Amino acid sequence: MDDLKAKFLGQISQADDEAALEAIRVTAVGKKGEVALKMRELGKMTPEERQIMGPRLNALKDEINSALAAKKAALADAALDARLKTEWLDVTLPARARRTGSIHPISQVTEEVTAIFADMGFAVAEGPQIETDWYNFDALNIPGHHPARAEMDTFYTHRAEGDNRPPHVLRTHTSPVQIRSMEKQGAPIRIICPGRVYRADYDQTHTPMFHQVEGLAIDKDISMANLKWVLEEFFSAFFGTHVETRFRASHFPFTEPSAEVDIQCSWEGGTVKVGEGDDWLEVLGSGMVHPKVLEAGGIDPNEWQGFAFGIGIDRLAMLKYGIPDLRAFFDSDLRWLRHYGFASLDQPTLHGGLSR
Ligand code: FA5
Ligand code: MG
Repeated sequence: MDDLKAKFLGQISQADDEAALEAIRVTAVGKKGEVALKMRELGKMTPEERQIMGPRLNALKDEINSALAAKKAALADAALDARLKTEWLDVTLPARARRTGSIHPISQVTEEVTAIFADMGFAVAEGPQIETDWYNFDALNIPGHHPARAEMDTFYTHRAEGDNRPPHVLRTHTSPVQIRSMEKQGAPIRIICPGRVYRADYDQTHTPMFHQVEGLAIDKDISMANLKWVLEEFFSAFFGTHVETRFRASHFPFTEPSAEVDIQCSWEGGTVKVGEGDDWLEVLGSGMVHPKVLEAGGIDPNEWQGFAFGIGIDRLAMLKYGIPDLRAFFDSDLRWLRHYGFASLDQPTLHGGLSR
């Protein structure tokens, strides 16, 4: 037994990795190891011999097991020391540069517009982008045969065969939110509704998906003069300087009288500049809400009247940030986005100045 002890303790102290230790464990104290073989011999002994040999064999087994555990811990410590010596981190190194995204000019301008109208007491309302034919047209005094339906180049959704209900449309303007807001809150109302709209249009100043912000003010003594004042206040806050505007008599089925507003600009040198040149870019349609529209929204036109407008957000962004082609806004070209995008901390506020 003394030989066995000397042999295994010697081997354990020489072992230089966990695999070697495990091999020693199996041959020494494993189920078929040398100590187990000796245990089996106990059966052939006399009870007196067994009483002496049994405890000694157990003690040998314990001693070998403790030596194995101690050596295993020592090996793990040594391995950790080695790792600590070779693996290290210089926490004083500068961080690796990360490409950050940017805020799209449309998002930025939407925030700017919202901040300006909020300051004038307008709350924000929203409506769905897929609209019923009633909200998008009929309720706005555009009946089925009206040419305005064709003029808007509407995208229609598909109805199953045999389903004769009028198809839903991708809303062609934000004006249906006027009706939804009238139904929801009744008069008086002072809201804006920014959002996406869709028309089959495509050129330098028209894209099939674009953005409008609707405005609606309903009260007992609202006039065209209020409309003009609000829009002029808006323009001077938005552009931060005086820009030349042109109020042009126009026609919409849902307003009477109606006006469109253009802003003076030039397109020279691959950019667009406001306040110079002899071109005009149309930015909005507006007017006094038609009595039939108030009625459709459940508001009594004998008691209430109001003004409404629908501004092209994309056109505002083009003018303010000198971006000459609207189509590029939605190309997802990273170079364009990095050039025209805004830093995420560049939140527009009236007190902080609206633009960079
Ligand atoms: C309308 O959409 C009316 N709903 C506006 C309105 C609201 C009038 C409330 C009266 C009362 P219009 O089709 O002119 O009107 O569009 C309004 C603005 O959206 C335009 O002046 C223009 O700035 C912008 N716009 C129109 N089509 C496009 C397009 N395809 N791409 C980008 N901007 C567009
Ligand atoms: Mg127009």
